[in-house]
Amino acid sequence: MKNVLVTGGAGFIGANFVRYLLEKEPEVRLVNLDLLTYAGNEANLVDLPNAHNHIFVQGDIRDAELVEKLFADYDLDTVVHFAAESHVDRSILGPAAFVETNILGTFVLLESARKHWQGDPEGKRFHHVSTDEVFGSLGPDDPPFDEHTAYDPRSPYSASKASSDHLVRAYSHTYGLPATVTNCTNNYGPYQYPEKLIPVIITNCLQGKPIPVYGDGKQIRDWLYVGDHCDAIYRVIVNGREGETYAIGGNNQPTNLEIIHTICEVLDDRLPNSPHAPHKELITFVTDRPGHDRRYAMSIDRIQAELGWQPTESLATGLEKTVDWYLANLDWVDDIRNESVYADWMTKNYGKR
Ligand code: NAD
Ligand code: TYD
Repeated sequence: MKNVLVTGGAGFIGANFVRYLLEKEPEVRLVNLDLLTYAGNEANLVDLPNAHNHIFVQGDIRDAELVEKLFADYDLDTVVHFAAESHVDRSILGPAAFVETNILGTFVLLESARKHWQGDPEGKRFHHVSTDEVFGSLGPDDPPFDEHTAYDPRSPYSASKASSDHLVRAYSHTYGLPATVTNCTNNYGPYQYPEKLIPVIITNCLQGKPIPVYGDGKQIRDWLYVGDHCDAIYRVIVNGREGETYAIGGNNQPTNLEIIHTICEVLDDRLPNSPHAPHKELITFVTDRPGHDRRYAMSIDRIQAELGWQPTESLATGLEKTVDWYLANLDWVDDIRNESVYADWMTKNYGKR
């Protein structure tokens, strides 16, 4: 790869990947296209390694003219597509943006890649970053999802991601677009916007606010530290087979309550004199999410066997690193908390629970 377009590179996973790639491939020219929605944050891109090779473009993946221009101006050979509306609760309260960004935006990128790479697919790669949520919800005794699991999305978010996966696969099959897809489980780590479970727990605890547990808190997710996800994506782009899908996961399946208790213990350890310790006393059961998926889990057999990838971070070490990152970056948290879009979301989502 020489000229890489990363979409959504100011968001949580995208910003971690931008750092990862600039470090790993110091010669790469990285064009970062991000609209800077509420979830995008230029503060996620400070102190980048090899920053002289990072070109930030504030713009919309749905803007076909802009995307075409980027392909032409930078002679792009690789696309790593993260940009999306990514939060299930937001998709329940307002699905339109998910259809527009996740489906139409992916379509615009695919069309540009098809046009610019037509007849010359050598050395090109369109990589689509997707989720395990496209496979639906597992029962307690079901085996984990894998690359052969049938699609069964159940939220507007997962339906929009499933749709974009299908478009990518169709372009690969029909037009021979050199594409790969990864379906990954829940990520956590630095720069995650405090609307998802783990940063909600940490940031609410810091303020002594309730930790909102949806339903009975016994839902299961397969958590992966974001750095491990970035490494998996890189391996798939470099050595993954064109036209293939790779499942990525963390090989662990705690309940939400178990995750919450672990984070509370780490916070009690780091902040023994906090007026909010013991933090587990902040746990508050609230109205469940409509259509809440019960359990996700992913088999990593294929990516492990073909690409030698497996998670390096355990849940215990990953959560400690994550709590420590938030504690070391309280200004980053405060800046988000002081934005009206954040307060509006907290009221809109939690006010009615
Ligand atoms: P995020 O919400 O933190 O970041 C999304 C980024 O996309 C933001 O920077 C936002 O500004 C940008 N964006 C949104 N709409 C845009 C548009 N129209 N044009 C250009 N940029 C736009 O999301 P995330 O958690 O980093 O997830 C990144 C990708 O990974 C998504 O595609 C998501 O579906 C997928 N994924 C996420 C997880 C997870 O646990 N977070 C797990 C598996 C897969
Ligand atoms: P989330 O981080 O939103 O990821 P996803 O819905 O994509 O899996 O939620 C993770 C789990 O935590 C999910 O079962 C919903 C639950 N949850 C809560 O119990 N309270 C919260 O405040 C949030 C945001 C999520």
